Amino acid sequence: MLMSRRTTMVPRSVMDAIYERRSVRAYAARPVDRAAVLQLLDAAVHAPTAMHEEPWEFVVVQDRATLRRLSDRALQTLRDRERRFALPENVFYDAGTLIAICAKPLGPFVAADCWLAAENLMLAACAMGLGTCVIGFALEALNTPEWKAELKIPDGMTVYAPIIVGVPAGATPAAGRRKPEGSIGKRSRRPRRPSFAARRVFLYDVADAPCAGVAQRQSSCFVNSRSWVRIPSPA
Ligand SMILES: Cc1cc2nc3c(=O)[nH]c(=O)nc-3n(C[C@H](O)[C@H](O)[C@H](O)COP(=O)(O)O)c2cc1C
Repeated sequence: MLMSRRTTMVPRSVMDAIYERRSVRAYAARPVDRAAVLQLLDAAVHAPTAMHEEPWEFVVVQDRATLRRLSDRALQTLRDRERRFALPENVFYDAGTLIAICAKPLGPFVAADCWLAAENLMLAACAMGLGTCVIGFALEALNTPEWKAELKIPDGMTVYAPIIVGVPAGATPAAGRRKPEGSIGKRSRRPRRPSFAARRVFLYDVADAPCAGVAQRQSSCFVNSRSWVRIPSPA
């Protein structure tokens, strides 16, 4: 059973959450309430971080009109460039909550820190009966100066992991996985061509700056319909 101080958690093992998590692309209209979002952020910050830096900030957007405009902005660029597969009409699949995990790119492990927090958040959401999906499609738009200003993401911060959260509209089938055995302890006879899924890696220009020193601790931000509540930094 996942350990939690809160009572809203559905009891299930972390293994269940790992195997049952899906990238959910259809959401019910029901919003995710503030308590649930805070629980997800709490799970996220329990991820390990290099040198215990906790470099992240979390930007939570729940204003649907803002999400729609951000999706349109993302699609503008993607339509010119993305020819390999059909783009969704809304990159956020009408989910009512976007959590963007950001940090100052001040070292080689900041991106890893953010993505570990992202996985914690997604597994916790699964355990709480919520759906999530990483939205790489939104990354470039989120890192433009105009959207950083709109979402009050401080200068020098990079958005690493945009994740939508919502109540799933139904069951999502498992995407399936290649078995890992082939790569453990033995070499396959010929190098395998990456599958289509593996080649669909999203590449975005959010390169880390060279290590510029120790990241400063940041506080977290909660944006809901343009209102911000600062959550105190850890001591
Ligand atoms: C870095 C990253 C970016 C992703 N970007 C998108 C995206 O923009 N849109 C989307 O629908 N899914 C996106 N996904 C979800 C993947 O497509 C999904 O994880 C994969 O197909 C496996 O499915 P599963 O998560 O249900 O197991 C992204 C996943 C990762 C890790």
